[in-house]
Amino acid sequence: MIAAADRALPPEESKAVGLTVEKCVPLGAKILGADMGLLLNDDERVPEVVLGALEENGVLVFPELGVDDAQLVAFAQRLGDPIGSGHTGAGRSGLNPEIYHVGFGDDLNNALYVKGAFNWHLDGSTDDIPSMASLLSGRALAAAGGDTQFVSTYAAYDRLTDEEKERFATTKVVHSAEAAYRKFDPNPSDEAIARLRKVAPKVHPLVWTHRTGRKSLVLGATASHIEGMDEGEGAAFLVELLERATAPEFVFTHKWSVGDLVIWDNRGTLHRATHYAEDSGRRMHRVTLVGDEPIS
Ligand code: OGA
Ligand code: MN
Repeated sequence: MIAAADRALPPEESKAVGLTVEKCVPLGAKILGADMGLLLNDDERVPEVVLGALEENGVLVFPELGVDDAQLVAFAQRLGDPIGSGHTGAGRSGLNPEIYHVGFGDDLNNALYVKGAFNWHLDGSTDDIPSMASLLSGRALAAAGGDTQFVSTYAAYDRLTDEEKERFATTKVVHSAEAAYRKFDPNPSDEAIARLRKVAPKVHPLVWTHRTGRKSLVLGATASHIEGMDEGEGAAFLVELLERATAPEFVFTHKWSVGDLVIWDNRGTLHRATHYAEDSGRRMHRVTLVGDEPIS
């Protein structure tokens, strides 16, 4: 695979493959000029340009690309290693096992997971290696709400004071599914707690030093408390740090049109969906790429 991180994106190269990268503020970029013919052609520079732009911008929006499931999987395979081959069950219906259906519906069984996405998070934060990136394709939209928002956790680290950077260098954060669940249901049933506790909590450093040398903050809904600190105090510290990282001026909001494709770098961003009703009919199809780097 291509070490996207080692690449600064030369604008001439994206132009040469027929793509225009238009930067957004405060993060993200639109990729213009793309169609599936171009994204799936044999030119190896296409995935290089896309991965380079992803590393540089955190989020890529391909407006109204209109990608179907087979094309979404094929494009994802050019960028990395899609999760879920052979997987069936919650959130997966239809012919492509790599496609995860984000939405509320009788054909799906993942309402809790989808509710969890209303809070800031990164995907796979209780895994050893969180996913590298996800591709989300807009299929049906909510009449109200249902935007997707992003912040850069690299930028959140960079904004710390020098004193904080030093103090946080050895801080370890306990992440758990239970902490994420309690953020939308503060009084879980005993049965829910027992189920949530089957997912072993995971301890991650607060500061992720990436292979590239860039540093990011590892925060979000699963962040429960700080190792070696009073639990309540640690939780309050994490809430405050998350608020700073996600202050409105640092947020990129994607307002969907049907057919949009959005890719986020799950290593250097947090994301969430703004609230939408369970009967809104909103449906997104997602392919997630296997992680390539443990949090360390
Ligand atoms: C996800 C997710 C946000 C959205 O699929 O991992 O968080 O807007 N989705 O649906
Ligand atoms: Mn998510």
